[in-house]
Amino acid sequence: MPAKTMESLVNLCKRRGFIFQGSDIYGGLQGVYDYGPLGVELKNNLKAAWWRAMVYERDDIEGLDAAILTHKSVLKHSGHEATFSDPMVDCRKCKSRWRADQIKDGKCEKCGSSDLTEPRPFNLMFKTNVGPVTDGDHFAYLRPETAQGIFCNFKNVLDSTSPKIPFGIAQIGKSFRNEITPKNFIFRVREFEQMELEFFVQPGTDDEWHSKWVAARVNWWKAQGLESDNLQQYAQKKEELAHYAKATVDILYRFPHGMEELEGVSDRTDFDLGSHSKDPQELGLKAKVEENKDSVVKLTAPDPVTQKPLVPYVIEPSAGVDRGVLAVLTEAYTEEKLENGTERIVLKLKPHLSPIKVAVIPLARNKPEIVAKAKEIKDALLKLGIGRIYYESSGNIGKSYRRHDEVGTPLCVTVDFDTIGKGETPDQAGTVTIRDRDTMKQVRVHADKLAEHIAGFFRDAR
Ligand code: GLY
Repeated sequence: MPAKTMESLVNLCKRRGFIFQGSDIYGGLQGVYDYGPLGVELKNNLKAAWWRAMVYERDDIEGLDAAILTHKSVLKHSGHEATFSDPMVDCRKCKSRWRADQIKDGKCEKCGSSDLTEPRPFNLMFKTNVGPVTDGDHFAYLRPETAQGIFCNFKNVLDSTSPKIPFGIAQIGKSFRNEITPKNFIFRVREFEQMELEFFVQPGTDDEWHSKWVAARVNWWKAQGLESDNLQQYAQKKEELAHYAKATVDILYRFPHGMEELEGVSDRTDFDLGSHSKDPQELGLKAKVEENKDSVVKLTAPDPVTQKPLVPYVIEPSAGVDRGVLAVLTEAYTEEKLENGTERIVLKLKPHLSPIKVAVIPLARNKPEIVAKAKEIKDALLKLGIGRIYYESSGNIGKSYRRHDEVGTPLCVTVDFDTIGKGETPDQAGTVTIRDRDTMKQVRVHADKLAEHIAGFFRDAR
């Protein structure tokens, strides 16, 4: 059952070192979060699963890591300078600022006053000075989406890897939006990470590819552990579409604060490649931001049939990494009543997402032979390359199990007197105990067979 409240997730994230408020020791920076020792592992694992599905498991997608600082012309021609804004209203009484669509009954949420300004557009892009001159002209934007870096490198990737339409370029990276009201923990934040694919197709095949990508992305989220009942699709109405989109299907997830967007899959047509192309009119393109006088290239690829230059259409599955982290945490968070009347919190994460794959626990910290054996086992498991193997030296087995249940460690391996051949049951000499997080069942396995056993577990869990 998913977490009942955001509060329970926020508490767990702070207590166990997943996610902290940014600049916390100075009172916090609103809409900015830091990932702690376990959060960074979880986030990296989610990103690695996406990269694997997009780049490694396919033969028609290449990766990219473009810069965050973006030339102002890019975001002028992309349409973001003119249109990437939210309507906001100011409260004349308490001076607070709100998104117009979040105002209820015409009243300020903070002080209750009805003395509000008319809605005005507020551009969401962050600007920063580039170089020493601060004349207002020498600035760049922090990108508001990673997609523009892909469009700007379209020709570079095409020239260096010679893909054939249909093909895609995938990227994971930070984006920035000056949200008027960041809220709901890491759901709506000002600094966030995106996993975006731009998949270039022949015009006319875009509707079909759009449906295929929606289905593929829903399946991928299910493979990350999200239950079908907690996922929905929503086709945006015409008036809700972004300036570049012909169609967008949002994949929604049942977050603690409600059913909200986890990923958007858009048909961006030839809008972006056309907008960044020199002489878009000459290419016969339709609605464009304006004729591009700055660009030096035509962003075309050979038509797979005629070989003539073609501006492909683009299907874009665009997922939020932070929203993904929040979704898998929500789904995994479980409070269980045990048979003995006690309770436990357990994060039932898919093993490939778990921050710690295996905790190796020496039962007696003051026995050098047991400690040495536990360290030897940790090193041997590390060589499997499955992720973080944690040497757990808290010395209290009950506390260790509780901690690893709460952070989602799928397996705990305990090294005891039997392991070193000094136990009371000679037939268990040389064995370790493996405890399963979800069932809490324990099995004894010979230490020599442990790596094989663990490798099999993680292989089967994918
Ligand atoms: N690239 C789509 C988005 O950032 O919303």
